[in-house]
Amino acid sequence: MASLPLLQIESVSKNYGEHHVKALSAVTINIERGEFVSLMGASGCGKSTLLNLIAGLDSASSGRIIFDGADVTKLSDEAVTALRAKKIGFVFQFFNLLSTLTVEENVALPLELGGNTNASERQKRVLEMLTQVGMESRLKFYPAQLSGGEMQRVAIARALVHKPELIVADEPTGNLDSENGIKVLELLKHLNKSLNQTIVMATHSEEAGAIGDRIIRMKDGLVLSDSLVKH
Ligand SMILES: Nc1ncnc2c1ncn2[C@@H]1O[C@H](COP(=O)(O)OP(=O)(O)O)[C@@H](O)[C@H]1O
Ligand SMILES: [Mg+2]
Repeated sequence: MASLPLLQIESVSKNYGEHHVKALSAVTINIERGEFVSLMGASGCGKSTLLNLIAGLDSASSGRIIFDGADVTKLSDEAVTALRAKKIGFVFQFFNLLSTLTVEENVALPLELGGNTNASERQKRVLEMLTQVGMESRLKFYPAQLSGGEMQRVAIARALVHKPELIVADEPTGNLDSENGIKVLELLKHLNKSLNQTIVMATHSEEAGAIGDRIIRMKDGLVLSDSLVKH
């Protein structure tokens, strides 16, 4: 029997506020396990809105989002929060590391929030992840002591540390110079290939988007095209 897609987005719409801005109009997308999907389009086309709905950070106006067999649109707020904490890792444009915590403390956070009470197990996993992203020599550093590219690599380790089903990355290279941007994209690609990590990445950059195996183009809240990339 064919297994279900990891993520089924069925005719999802999102309207904002009293002016009824239509941020998404009947978007339908399936995402399979192990895919690296680039969500592309100009600023304002609805990429972040869609990622936030997928990650349960916001709720749809209509339609259904089935994630790993659960209808996210029908779950309580508590259940969505629990699902997100367990199964999704988020990578942001501005890294969103906590400035008062060290690199290793930042990366350990999702494990603590997930209720992993074994400190030595946590430490082992954190070191494993920071080695994976090439940041194992910066355990005791604070975010302010790192470059943008290094901060994003730490943020990626944090997103991965609890072995999520899905990584959602919103403009992960948007605040990096091109050299560091390429390093972050190569890291995401490597994680996708070596761990079979499913990734959905929003970007307005053609160069960044080309790293994915599949490109979904959006405009004005609609999906324009959806195609596989030949590398
Ligand atoms: N919280 C909000 N309130 C009202 N409108 C919003 C809000 N968030 C996004 N929008 C609008 O929804 C549309 C899509 O925005 P967004 O998803 O952020 O696009 P993108 O990430 O592709 O740049 C835009 O027109 C934006 O102005
Ligand atoms: Mg955006």
